[in-house]
Amino acid sequence: MNETLGKQLEEIRRRFAEDLEAANDARSVEDLRIRYFGRKGGLVPALFGELKSIPPEEKKEAGAALNALRAELQSRMDEAIASVSRPASKRKAIDVTLPGRRPRIGHLHPITIVRREIEGVFREMGYSVAAGPEIESDWYNFEALNFEPEHPARDEQDTFYLGADRLLRTHTSNVQIRVMEAVKPPVKLVASGRVYRRDEITLRRSPMFHQIEGLLVDEGIHFGHLKGTLQHFLRKIFSAGTGIRFRPSYFPFTEPSAEVDISCVFCSGKGCGTCSQTGWMEILGCGMVHPKVLENVGIDSERYTGFAFGLGIDRVTMLKFGMPNIRVLFENDVRILSQF
Ligand code: PHE
Repeated sequence: MNETLGKQLEEIRRRFAEDLEAANDARSVEDLRIRYFGRKGGLVPALFGELKSIPPEEKKEAGAALNALRAELQSRMDEAIASVSRPASKRKAIDVTLPGRRPRIGHLHPITIVRREIEGVFREMGYSVAAGPEIESDWYNFEALNFEPEHPARDEQDTFYLGADRLLRTHTSNVQIRVMEAVKPPVKLVASGRVYRRDEITLRRSPMFHQIEGLLVDEGIHFGHLKGTLQHFLRKIFSAGTGIRFRPSYFPFTEPSAEVDISCVFCSGKGCGTCSQTGWMEILGCGMVHPKVLENVGIDSERYTGFAFGLGIDRVTMLKFGMPNIRVLFENDVRILSQF
C-alpha cells in the first residue's frame, strides 16, 4: 500500500470524526457534507484525483482502500443528516421548552369531600364540630341512650364486642352522651366518624362505615326546628328541588322518631330500578331527644328539649357520585379515587 496515501487516509478519517462530533445542527452537518463530499474541492473526491500519481502496481490496492474509506464516511454522514432532521423531541439534546412531567398529587378521598361538605352546611348554621371514640363502653353506645339491657335493638345493631364492657361503637350517637355529660345546653354540634356493625359486605353494606350525627339541645326546641333544619341541609347537599318526607320510626333515644326519605336522585321521584320503583330513598334517622336521655346526662328535661339525627356519609357519597358499590370507597384503587 502506498505509504503517503495511507497516511492521508488516516488523517482524513480522524478529522472527519472530529468535525462530525462538532456538527450538531442541520446547517453545520450540511457544511460538513460539502467540505468532504462536495463535487468541487470536496476532500474525498480530491483523494480519488491523487490516484493518478500512484504507481500502477499499487493502484488496485489504493483504489480499494479509498472506496472503503468513502463508504465508511458516507454512511456516518447519512446518519448525521438523518439525526439532525429528526423532530426535536427525538434528539438527544434537552429541549427546555417542553412542558415538564407533572408529579401525581394526592387529594381528598370522596368520603372526606362529602363529610366536609356536610359539616360546612352545618357550620354555616352555627353548629360546632365534635368527635368521639370508636372504642366505647356499653354506657355511651347503648345504656345512656335508653337501650334497655335486653333491648332487641342491641341485636339489630350487631355489635363487635372487644371484651368486658368494650365494644366498637355501632353509631355516632355515643357522641351525644359524651358531649352532653361535659357541657350544658345550649348544645349545637355535628360529629362524624367510623362506626362498626357485624354485617356481610354487600353492594351497600360494609362492616365499617361512616356516620355523621347532629344534636341540638336548647329551650323551646320542637319538631318543626328539626324538619326545617333537615330540609335546608338535604336541599343543599342534593338539589334545591329534592323531595323530602318523614316516616314514623323507632329509636330508643328519640321520641317521636322518624326516618327521612328523599326523592330518588336518579329518577327524581318517577320510579326506577335503584329506588325499587318507589321514587324515594331512605337517607337518615332522627327524632326529638328522649327525656330519659337528657336525664341520664343531668339535663333538666322540663326546661330543655332537643333534636338529633344520624346519617351514613358513605351512602350520601355513593348517591352524590353515582357509585354502584360501597367497596369502591374502601379498596383504594387510585384509578377510581383520582376521578373525584
Ligand atoms: N343512631 C341511629 C342509627 O345509627 C341514627 C339516629 C341518630 C337516629 C340520631 C335518631 C337520632 O341508626
